[in-house]
Formats: sequence, structure tokens, C-alpha cells
Amino acid sequence: MADAAPVERLRIDRLIPGGDGFARGDDGRPVFAAGAAPGDLIELRSVSDRGGYRRATDYQIVEPSADRVTPACPYGQRCGGCDFMHLSVQAQRQAKRTIVLEALKRTAGVEWTAGLPIVTAGEPVGYRRRIRLHVDRDGAVGYYQAGTHSIVAIEHCLVAEAGVNDVLRAVVGLEPPHRAHLAKFERLDMAVGDRSAYIHLTPRRRTTRAQARAARSALADALDPIRVTSPRHAGDALKLALAGQHLLVPSGAFFQVNWSVNQAIVSAVLDAAERLHLHTFCDVYCGAGNFSLPLLGAGLTGVGFDRTRSAISSAGRAAKAQRLRGEFLAGDAREVIQQLAKAGRRFDMVVLDPPRAGAKDVIRDLPQLRPKYVLMCACDPVTFARDAKLLADNGAELVELTAFDMFPQTHHVEVLGLFRVSDN
Ligand SMILES: C[S@@+](CC[C@H](N)C(=O)[O-])C[C@H]1O[C@@H](n2cnc3c(N)ncnc32)[C@H](O)[C@@H]1O
Repeated sequence: MADAAPVERLRIDRLIPGGDGFARGDDGRPVFAAGAAPGDLIELRSVSDRGGYRRATDYQIVEPSADRVTPACPYGQRCGGCDFMHLSVQAQRQAKRTIVLEALKRTAGVEWTAGLPIVTAGEPVGYRRRIRLHVDRDGAVGYYQAGTHSIVAIEHCLVAEAGVNDVLRAVVGLEPPHRAHLAKFERLDMAVGDRSAYIHLTPRRRTTRAQARAARSALADALDPIRVTSPRHAGDALKLALAGQHLLVPSGAFFQVNWSVNQAIVSAVLDAAERLHLHTFCDVYCGAGNFSLPLLGAGLTGVGFDRTRSAISSAGRAAKAQRLRGEFLAGDAREVIQQLAKAGRRFDMVVLDPPRAGAKDVIRDLPQLRPKYVLMCACDPVTFARDAKLLADNGAELVELTAFDMFPQTHHVEVLGLFRVSDN
């Protein structure tokens, strides 16, 4: 009879970008374990062998880490939304620090020893101003279970703001005929501003336009005064107070999910501008003016641009309503930068707040704008590190680094880097 395979017990060393636990296996190769905590002693039950590393597909916790807590959310074990809810908030923040520093070291080759503050603001629950839910064939709404497309129906979301939960409660409370209307859609985006809220409904592939229109209109009647729209036929903008100004965010356009932490990031950008005596800015990927409007309000002059036309026209409207003189341009970031450079425009500072894919398409062209400083914000530390390296290759040195706990209960973290440009 063959001997039973030896039991392999591993101590989780740390959490890595993406949120998995990292341990060194008995054969010396890395083992990654989702849902682990630093310090857990785990016993592997099954693994998937990927050559250079193994992924634990099933494991038992033999000795739990002292960082573990019971998830506060009743859906916590099943819902794939919050992958750090099994960690204390302090441990989450420590893990995020490690993740940012490791990403910088591995991807950018930067050993950052100057300390990494992690800024928090507001509460670690009840912070999200917008959420995206999926709808099942019976009209129940929820998040996907981790790694699957199975919907875990929810009635409340612990990390969503009270206003979002009010909208969710109204949806969950719909009577059965409206459930059938809801089932015509596959996705539901909810967002709340200071005084209004909207729901965007994205139809299933099989739903005809006429069916979607009729179902949307029935749901709008049932959910009044919540606006029910489609991403393609967006309604009025949400108004959001920020740094003594306000933004107007058209439905469907991007805005930061955690408003308290967003205010802290905007304050950090304003503080850098003041401290470094910067007078002009170029806000690449400006959205509805999240950085541009406060910078204009602080007396700087500058240009913001974004490819989302509705966001740009809202930024222009908000600036005008607040008597701020800003220039907002709709277009692809790289093309606008090239046009500005051709026109001989120069800016003291460039603000880069790119989408998840990062800013690699524009970094090579930035020196043409002759900035003294670049402030780059990113929600993915690995992409941030990749772009930090590109910036360094283009003469911009990372001089300050701050992490912001924008997404508590998840492995996601926002990073803000200040880069000083040589020769300017
Ligand atoms: C992370 S959001 C930041 C928006 C804004 N800075 C804020 O804080 O609300 C990224 C923005 O980049 C815009 N975007 C994505 N790709 C772009 C491109 N190639 N050119 C211009 N804008 C782009 C999106 O429309 C989105 O508004």
C-alpha cells in the first residue's frame, strides 16, 4: 500500500498584492492562499500546481492568526465583495502597507524606507457612495460570490452608506410583479449624492429595447423619487460637496466611492500645491473635476481633461456656477497632452489619476508640459509601481508616498505619490 502523502503545514508570512496569503511551501516554492491572515498556520488539503508556485484550493486553519476577527457582515463568508473582513481593521491597514511597499520593491525596484503613512477618514463600514449589484433570474439582487458568477442575494450592504442602503431597501422591498421587471436586467448600479440618488439598470442580452423601456418605466414609478435610468440615457447630475466647492457628477460617470477619504486625498493635493508654491496645474483624467475644482478654488489656474464628455460638461457647469475660471477639455488624455504641448503650454504640476489600467500611455509625453511636480494617484499598487518606474525613467523622482484606506474591508488601497521632476 502506498504511503499517505505527508501533511503539509505552512505559516502564512504576509498578504500580497491581490490580497492572498503568502507562505513558502516545503519544496521552497511560494504557496498562495486566498482568505488567509498573516500568522495563520494552515494545513493544505488541495493545491493547484502552477509550475513556479502553488495555489491552495482548500486548506484548514490549524492555528488562527491573532489578526483574525469574526466578519461583522452576515454575508461575509459567502459574498465576494469584502475579502479582508476576516482581519481586524488595524491588521488590514498593516497588510496594505506591506502590499504597497512590496509592489514598489518588486515592480519598480524601489526600496521605500521613508515611512508610509496610511491615512484613514470616516468609518471602516458604511462608506461606499456607490455599489454595483447583479440581478438573478428571479429578480433578487446581490454581489457575486468570490471567484464565481453565483449571486449572493443581499438586503443590506455593511460597507455602503446609509443612503445607498435606503435605495437597496426600496429595491428589495419591491412587490413580486416588479421583481419580474427587475429580472429583465442583469446589473444594477446605485449611487447617492448629497441630496439625490439614482439606479442604473443594464438590460440582459435577451431583453428587447421595448421590454427594457417598459420595465424601467414601471420600476421608476414604483421607486419614485429615486431616479431609474440607463447608463446610456443618464439623468441629472449628483451634487457632492468637496473642499468648500461642489462637484456635479453626471449619472454613469466616475466618482470616488469613499467621500471622507476622497476629501483627505484632495486635501493632500491642495497641501502639496501650497507647500511647493505651485500655481498652474494640468489634471489628466479629471473626471467631473474632483481635483481641478478644489485647485481652482484654491486660486490655481489650470486645465482638466477626460474622455467622458458628460463629466467634462458637468465640470464646466460646476466651475461656472461657482465662478471658477477653469478650462475643461473632452478627449483622449494622450492626444490632449500632445495638443497642449504643441501649443507651448506649461504647468507647474501634473495630476494623474488614471483608470485601473494606469497612466503608461501618457507618461512619456509629460516632460513636454515641463511640470516641476507630478502627483499620481492609483487604486492598484502594482500599476502605481509600474508607472512610478516609468516616471523615474522620464526624470521624475518619487519624493513622498502616502496610502489612503479608501476601501476598508477589502485588499484595495489608494496610493498617492509626489514626484519631483529634474531639470525644471
Ligand atoms: C479613476 S477615474 C478619476 C477621475 C477623477 N480624477 C476623480 O477623482 O473623480 C479615471 C478617469 O479617467 C478617464 N479616462 C479613462 N481613460 C481615459 C483616456 N484614455 N483619456 C482620457 N480620460 C480617460 C475616465 O473617464 C475616468 O473619469
